[in-house]
Amino acid sequence: MKKTARAPANIAFIKYWGKKDAQLRIPLNDSISMNLSAAYSETTVEFSKNYPKDDIVLKGGVFSAKERTRITAHLDRIRAKAGIHTYARVVTKNSFPKSAGIASSASGFAALTLAASASAGLPMSERELTILARLGSGSAARSIPDGFVRWKTAESPRQSYAYSLYPPDYWDMRDILVIVSSSDKEVSSTDAHAKAETSPRLPARLAAIPSRIARITDALARKDFTAFGEVLEEDCLDMHAVAQSQTPPLAYFTPTTRAILAAVTRLRREGIAAYATVDAGPNVHVICQGRDENVVKNKVQSASGVQRVLINKPALGARLVSAHLF
Ligand code: PMV
Repeated sequence: MKKTARAPANIAFIKYWGKKDAQLRIPLNDSISMNLSAAYSETTVEFSKNYPKDDIVLKGGVFSAKERTRITAHLDRIRAKAGIHTYARVVTKNSFPKSAGIASSASGFAALTLAASASAGLPMSERELTILARLGSGSAARSIPDGFVRWKTAESPRQSYAYSLYPPDYWDMRDILVIVSSSDKEVSSTDAHAKAETSPRLPARLAAIPSRIARITDALARKDFTAFGEVLEEDCLDMHAVAQSQTPPLAYFTPTTRAILAAVTRLRREGIAAYATVDAGPNVHVICQGRDENVVKNKVQSASGVQRVLINKPALGARLVSAHLF
């Protein structure tokens, strides 16, 4: 049966960096994120004996051979679970152009997991979907539940799942995503995670995470935006300190990244509560409250080197939708 799913990208406030188990993608630490309304993937999957092999299409772009292998491996997991042997046609598209430099693995693997498992007739709980999505791409686990999400590390693969902390309308937050580069990553995040343990700073990061998780959980519960922002910036800079001190070192910030981070600091001096976080790339996610959206957007988009700005609100997680892509 043909099924289509839509799933959002997400931004991590407490980041996942490094894995306990590379194959099973069990993270070294818990992470907390928010789903993004303007950055999502849609994927249609159909398993059928009419297909002589898996046929995988990215609308508006092309998958590399490595990406195709990763998608096929994910289809294999779903076939094995469902006990089916048919190939699939997969058509996917992103709401953002591939050239926007926004990582699509979280939204892409979340949408693929939901569409493919539904198409294979697999009944799955939300928790099981997060576990399965995690095997495709770690952060994809967080794109399945709604709104503000926590993904747990665990000793066993069945216990490393993600769940919703709050629905999207819990807090009127914005992620003003400032796109500064459109080039593909030189090092995939899979390879980057694998080298986290070479950083002498990793033990200090892992020791600090439980208290950061507690502080951000408390700030969320109290809707204390200042406390929330301070923790998310602290964790971002710490993750990048680890990345920059691993072997080989990974430096994701460009001069434009730094200029935007400085603009965010200036905004705070002017009394606007805005905080910034950066994933494994140069783009900056400026986090603020809905009432400050325009002033923050106007400030950051005027920085030189900015290509475009995408305004995100907190969003629902992965959903089946009725409009198929083929
Ligand atoms: O799931 P991956 O392999 O794309 O890794 C995501 C890593 C970060 O985006 C830097 C942090 C995170 O928790 O999303």
